[in-house]
Amino acid sequence: MKIIVTNNLEELSLQAANLIIEQIKTKPNSVLGLPTGHTPLIMYQKLVQAYVTGQVSFAQVKTFNLDEYVGLPRTSPDSFYTYMRQNFFDHVDAKPENIFVLDGTAENLADECANYERELENYGGMDLAILGIGQDGHIGFCEPGTSWQSRTMVVTLDQTTLEANAKDLANSSVMPKEAITMGLGTIMEARQIILLASGESKREIVNKALKGEASEAVPASILQTHDNVTIILDKEASGQ
Ligand code: PGA
Repeated sequence: MKIIVTNNLEELSLQAANLIIEQIKTKPNSVLGLPTGHTPLIMYQKLVQAYVTGQVSFAQVKTFNLDEYVGLPRTSPDSFYTYMRQNFFDHVDAKPENIFVLDGTAENLADECANYERELENYGGMDLAILGIGQDGHIGFCEPGTSWQSRTMVVTLDQTTLEANAKDLANSSVMPKEAITMGLGTIMEARQIILLASGESKREIVNKALKGEASEAVPASILQTHDNVTIILDKEASGQ
């Protein structure tokens, strides 16, 4: 596990974007696992800048988002689909047919999960998954107690997640209580993983996930058992 401590979120984002660009330069049709949330926002800006200035093309890249709320249509301002379009996809040359985001309004969510796994497998699995971390240690929406073998599934969100994420919702929206997420088993099959954490509110859980016992109680601690993980922190998250 490689740990990079940066001075601030700006530097963290640049480092993450550079690692993604490097991956795409090595393999233009890379399969990426992508996160949402506050932490990767500037990273996406850096990727857009790199595209606009001709440093990278996403034309052959396949993207699989980690998770999505159950019950929100894609057109909702709060869906992760909308987040991805607004912050990334609409500003780069990623092809719609190469973009995969779980549909939390699918009539049969079990089929939606199984199809997502199948699509991912068809493309040979993820070359690189970029992850955030929740204050409860979740990655994707795999909350504490999630099996390490889990595959893409429907989950009930923990209270800490509901509270953290409800703050971001548009006034008109009701916070979804469930989500659909890649499982820990799915995420761990990525050949390379980058985890991003920024801010003091993540310090305690980052410390537990990286230095504590690896256990299902702290989902992100599973990364201790992956052989190609880079953790990028800012000073506040690292405690240095
Ligand atoms: P955040 O979310 O980047 O908004 O803190 C991270 C997560 O919940 O995975």
